[in-house]
Amino acid sequence: MSELHARIAGIGRYLPDNVVTNDDLAKIVDTNDEWIRERTGIATRRIEEDPEKGAAYMAAEAARVAIDRSGFAPEEIDTVILSTATPDRFLPSTACDTQAILGLPNAMALDLTAACSGWLYGLTMGEGMIASGRSKATLVVATEKMSGIVDWTDRATCVLFGDGAGAVVLAPANGDGTGIVSSFHCSDGNLGELLWRPAGGNICPMTPQTLENRDHLLKMNGREIFKSAVRSMAQACDEALSRAGMTGEDVDLLVPHQANIRIIQATAKYAGIPMEKVYVNVDRYGNMSSASIPVALDEALEDGSIQPGMRVLAPTFGAGLTWGAVVLQF
Ligand code: ACO
Repeated sequence: MSELHARIAGIGRYLPDNVVTNDDLAKIVDTNDEWIRERTGIATRRIEEDPEKGAAYMAAEAARVAIDRSGFAPEEIDTVILSTATPDRFLPSTACDTQAILGLPNAMALDLTAACSGWLYGLTMGEGMIASGRSKATLVVATEKMSGIVDWTDRATCVLFGDGAGAVVLAPANGDGTGIVSSFHCSDGNLGELLWRPAGGNICPMTPQTLENRDHLLKMNGREIFKSAVRSMAQACDEALSRAGMTGEDVDLLVPHQANIRIIQATAKYAGIPMEKVYVNVDRYGNMSSASIPVALDEALEDGSIQPGMRVLAPTFGAGLTWGAVVLQF
């Protein structure tokens, strides 16, 4: 096994209280519980109703728990890497807003945009900061208020997503054998328009026309994304496992990005991991973009699905397209 540089010192999550069922959605778009469950595996999702509670609020709630559990004082956190596809505002970063809420006076804070893959990308970048000696305690937080960017008139997308946040504090490996074992990441910008928000940036600024077309909201080619997701998660599993000197048989728990149960099943099958060893919460939360994996890890630790000594494989994919996987030793 390769040398460990960084370990997870603390982990936390935040989920809004408000539960939205498939039947609730059937009241606003032409859909039904059976279709959503069968095609996606989703039964409920959490939606943050309070407009005052944005991505930074949710990030801070999750991060506060992670920092408390890490044993680090807020003053000791020196780096904040925040993944979001749903920033509260274009400038400044949601990371800086989160830093202000938490009171982290000695940290540099930045946003990272890699859609659903953002938290895993952030984990690897945080690991690099720790390995180089530039950071002693890096907060890697993912926060997604997807309800703010989905088109609530589009049944093909609005049923898929939910709100939530997850965070870890990374610290230098301490010789106890736990930490980030390996990682693999990749992107393909040629496929950007499979999942995107066409309007609102420099090239296509928001106008009354783009607003009327709802072009500032999420658009997705579901079928193509599905195919790319299965392909890229398979590659990510292969690469991360081979870099760890492992095969699927060595994995104690697969904690994949939670976009669709069928994508999760296909990934598990490809990696040779039985579904009993797969952590699933897409049924309860839908797709929380980059927050999906840290929320799942926190829950799995809490409910005992992850025990000391276990090896976890976490693959992801998302808009960009972006994809990747990490192997973690607990
Ligand atoms: N309720 C009822 N019918 C629906 C709904 C709905 N909510 N949505 C679509 N349909 C209809 C379609 O209109 C279509 O009808 P038609 O045959 O009359 O045209 C029919 O259902 C089948 O539609 P498909 O798109 O072919 O359905 P599919 O089986 O591919 O499932 C889905 C669609 C669930 C979106 C699937 O393609 C998928 O999961 N794709 C990946 C999505 C994803 O993972 N996105 C996020 C990735 S990146 C990130 O996480 C940010």
